[in-house]
Amino acid sequence: MITQEDVCSVQTMKEEEKYALLKNVIIDYERKEANLIQILHMAQAIFGYLPSDVQHFIADQMDLSISRVNSVLTFYSFFSTQPKGKYTVAICLGTACYVRGGKDVLNKLKDILGIDVGCTTEDKIFSLSVMRCIGACGLAPAMTINNKVYKQVNPNRIARILGMLK
Ligand code: FES
Repeated sequence: MITQEDVCSVQTMKEEEKYALLKNVIIDYERKEANLIQILHMAQAIFGYLPSDVQHFIADQMDLSISRVNSVLTFYSFFSTQPKGKYTVAICLGTACYVRGGKDVLNKLKDILGIDVGCTTEDKIFSLSVMRCIGACGLAPAMTINNKVYKQVNPNRIARILGMLK
């Protein structure tokens, strides 16, 4: 069985080793279509994102059509077909955060980074995404940058927060 430890060591792997690991993941999940989401999660953990070549590999190995694989990964916002930046900035647009200005924070992020949701800056430093409630509603609006949570985010603080990361 493939462990999370195996997946965590991928940064030093060559491309063919990543594909070999993904093949083992698919075998572990018995090539079942019912396990496609888990397989896509593992593939994203291995490659960092899900480019066309990886999608085709999964489709071939599972004997599925490429359109089936593509329709599943485009349905869920947590899958990405583009490489992620060093920092993933995610703003919560759950009800409490939305009502307390989450949309303004998002617009400010779009302005400063010059990208839309789901995209990555040209210098590959920042990716932008949105998320649902993360349980910090009392201190909305909430934002995360990688695993760090920022609460009561004021749009006027965004430039400073991002500047400190560069
Ligand atoms: S709605 Fe954003 S943290 Fe709950």
